[in-house]
Amino acid sequence: MVRPQSKRRLTIAAAVGLACLSAIVAARHAGTMLALAAEPEAPKKLDPAAWGSDHVGQGVPAYMEGGECLFCHRNDVGGEWQTDKHNRTIRDAPRTEPAMEALAEDPGLKDFVDQVELLMGDTRAQRFLKRADAYGKVDLLSPVATFGRGRRARLEETDNPHWEIDTFALECAGCHTTAVNPETHAFSTVALDCYACHGVAPDGHTEDAKQILLNTVQPDSPAVVTSICGSCHIRFGKSKSSGLPYPNNFVPGDNLFKDFQVDFDVADDETLNPADRHVMHNVREVVVRGNESMTCLSCHDVHQGSSAKHRDLPVVNSCQHCHSAATPIKSHKRYQVHSERCQY
Ligand code: HEC
Ligand code: HEC
Ligand code: HEC
Ligand code: HEC
Ligand code: HEC
Ligand code: HEC
Repeated sequence: MVRPQSKRRLTIAAAVGLACLSAIVAARHAGTMLALAAEPEAPKKLDPAAWGSDHVGQGVPAYMEGGECLFCHRNDVGGEWQTDKHNRTIRDAPRTEPAMEALAEDPGLKDFVDQVELLMGDTRAQRFLKRADAYGKVDLLSPVATFGRGRRARLEETDNPHWEIDTFALECAGCHTTAVNPETHAFSTVALDCYACHGVAPDGHTEDAKQILLNTVQPDSPAVVTSICGSCHIRFGKSKSSGLPYPNNFVPGDNLFKDFQVDFDVADDETLNPADRHVMHNVREVVVRGNESMTCLSCHDVHQGSSAKHRDLPVVNSCQHCHSAATPIKSHKRYQVHSERCQY
């Protein structure tokens, strides 16, 4: 793929530059450097697949849809849910969206405007989708909308624009839609429903909140949390059973790593962008090295869409994915994110 690679080179150059700069800064400030809380010297090497079970070879379990959950949970999470990026990763495509305006203004692409029904993605890249005839399938338009400064969209990959038929089902669906059928690869709902993180909600949870995954009364084990968030946020894995780049019928509570094969060493790749790198680092700490001092939830409050609580944590080496060790944490690095898996 030409596009992500050429960008990656730029990112590498930028990252090398940053690394040199921070090395110089670090040397200068050696005397006053922050003491870093040590991470284990000889890290453990656990078998990530050792515990639990999964749902490979089974059907998608029956689960309650978000609308029903929100009937009772409108006040606690309903407000934030409207703007939650998980909920909005695929949504309707009004003509007033900048990406749609860019499409309409491009002489070679304007004929597609009437066909596009859904938009996918966020502030870096967006894709255009239309519902296919088959249930739970969408076609993916080949051009990509990207965003620089401001909200104006630029279109890339505009030569030979066409609808791709199988790409979405075989390469994207598992992480951008809910409850993908392992046989047909058809999804149940576009975007991500409560089920993607909370799993099957037991009826009894309304009396006893501890019965549902990711409740706030009794924390789940770091391994369970990491499997849930990692089921989409690990963009460097492959299902052993399906061969696809997303998990096969993952149900929250499962051990993701029974079937999802992950290249954990990408956490050491200094050219990788900090967004993916801090994820891969944290996943490896928890599931391979048995360091459970931090999970995604130590830093991220999902329903608030906030990482503010991370500021209060003790400084450890991995903070340097985004900060410089030389000074007390005042500023963070600027970074770009590109992803081969997500084609941006
Ligand atoms: C393994 C799971 C996974 C697969 C498979 C996957 N994505 Fe993603 N995608 C993600 C995650 C996680 C993010 C958010 C990453 C972030 O913000 O750091 C994302 C973000 C995106 C974005 C938004 C980028 C932005 O920030 O604006 C687009 C567009 C996208 N993906 C397109 C695709 C397409 C197209 C495919 C299939 C060719 C695909 N993705 C396959 C997990 C996946
Ligand atoms: C991307 C993962 C994710 C999705 C999707 C998700 N949640 Fe959550 N939810 C969490 C996490 C993680 C917590 C634990 C609180 C925390 O630390 O953020 C939580 C906590 C909660 C809580 C209790 C805490 C609070 O904020 O009041 C409720 C209720 C809840 N979720 C309901 C829902 C409902 C209803 C949906 C669907 C409309 C949903 N969640 C979708 C991850 C998710
Ligand atoms: C019939 C009403 C009802 C429905 C439907 C319902 N819940 Fe609940 N839920 C409750 C009640 C009541 C509690 C307990 C609240 C408490 O103890 O604070 C609860 C608790 C929770 C909690 C833990 C809250 C906490 O404080 O940590 C989560 C998470 C949650 N529900 C998610 C969901 C999800 C996801 C769905 C849909 C799959 C759902 N609920 C459907 C009523 C409902
Ligand atoms: C089923 C797939 C899936 C699961 C499970 C999932 N995410 Fe995401 N997450 C995504 C995708 C896709 C995006 C990007 C959506 C977009 O921008 O289009 C995203 C975006 C995010 C973002 C950036 C946007 C924001 O709201 O700040 C954070 C942070 C995040 N997820 C954290 C988590 C955490 C923590 C968990 C585990 C509790 C989790 N996610 C579980 C797929 C998932
Ligand atoms: C030490 C704290 C910390 C841990 C642990 C952590 N994150 Fe983050 N993460 C952050 C901060 C801070 C940001 C940047 C600010 C923001 O986007 O909210 C961030 C950004 C992100 C983003 C958006 C990246 C982008 O630019 O698109 C995603 C997605 C994400 N984290 C997911 C996760 C997941 C999944 C895990 C667990 C495997 C995790 N994070 C673990 C602190 C953390
Ligand atoms: C994924 C990138 C990322 C990681 C990893 C990360 N940070 Fe941050 N941090 C940010 C961003 C972005 C900001 C600015 C936005 C904000 O304040 O949340 C920030 C802000 C902060 C601030 C506030 C600085 C100020 O002057 O207001 C502190 C303190 C902080 N981080 C500490 C930490 C610590 C401690 C760690 C490691 C445990 C860490 N960060 C890991 C991205 C990150």
